Amino acid sequence: MERCIPVDRLARPDNFVLMRGRQVRDIREEQGLERNNALPFDEETLRARLHGIYTGELQAMEAAGRTLFDFPDAPWEFQLDMARQVWDEARHAEIFQRLVEYMGAAPGDYVETEILWRCTQAEDPAARVAGINRGLEGLACDVFDQLIRIAQRNGDEVIERSIDYVLADEITHVRMGSKWMRKLTEGDPDRLARAQAFQDTVDEVFNFRGGRRLAEDLEKDDGMTLTIAREARLLAGFTEEEIQRLIESTRKSAAY
Ligand SMILES: [Fe+2]
Ligand SMILES: [Fe+2]
Repeated sequence: MERCIPVDRLARPDNFVLMRGRQVRDIREEQGLERNNALPFDEETLRARLHGIYTGELQAMEAAGRTLFDFPDAPWEFQLDMARQVWDEARHAEIFQRLVEYMGAAPGDYVETEILWRCTQAEDPAARVAGINRGLEGLACDVFDQLIRIAQRNGDEVIERSIDYVLADEITHVRMGSKWMRKLTEGDPDRLARAQAFQDTVDEVFNFRGGRRLAEDLEKDDGMTLTIAREARLLAGFTEEEIQRLIESTRKSAAY
């Protein structure tokens, strides 16, 4: 595998600003913007989140392309799946760019973080798809599920339907990750364990300091708290046991 290019060298227009996720969190904290468990849902937060997803989709496209490039010896069907994913993510980036514009902003109006791209550092394709397809895109299912509920509450059919359309694709990407993580590690439990451990680190990073919950754990689901999209994850090939593990880890991190 060739060395991964640093995130600040990804091709972007001049008006884009790239920062480390930690740096953005620190600045937000300094400005008194750090959230508790609940996400505020004013228009500005929604606009910024849609922009964050837009850049996430760009990086998802780049990451799938990078995976295709990095593992020329992987099975042909694996490469085909990655190529298809590049095409899907390109459409997602376009959809979210339009949603950002629909909300009155433009690409580059908000800072882009490098978190997704950083996950492409895994040197084993099994770990790569475990971390990106199952970890990050599993999270995307949770985020999209929540945004759809918010759009429904706001009576915004444009956002609701656009995201529902993207969510259908993300479910297939997570399923792809589940399939390849298992197939590539067949007969090699150590390799499977390493891939799962890499996914665990990704899941941990995105636990939002205990900000995620299972819908059943909420006293009142007002759409403000990120929940685990159980149904979407089951469709995406997560086992009940894996979902349970995720729930346990969110409960654990919620405790402190
Ligand atoms: Fe996507
Ligand atoms: Fe995806």
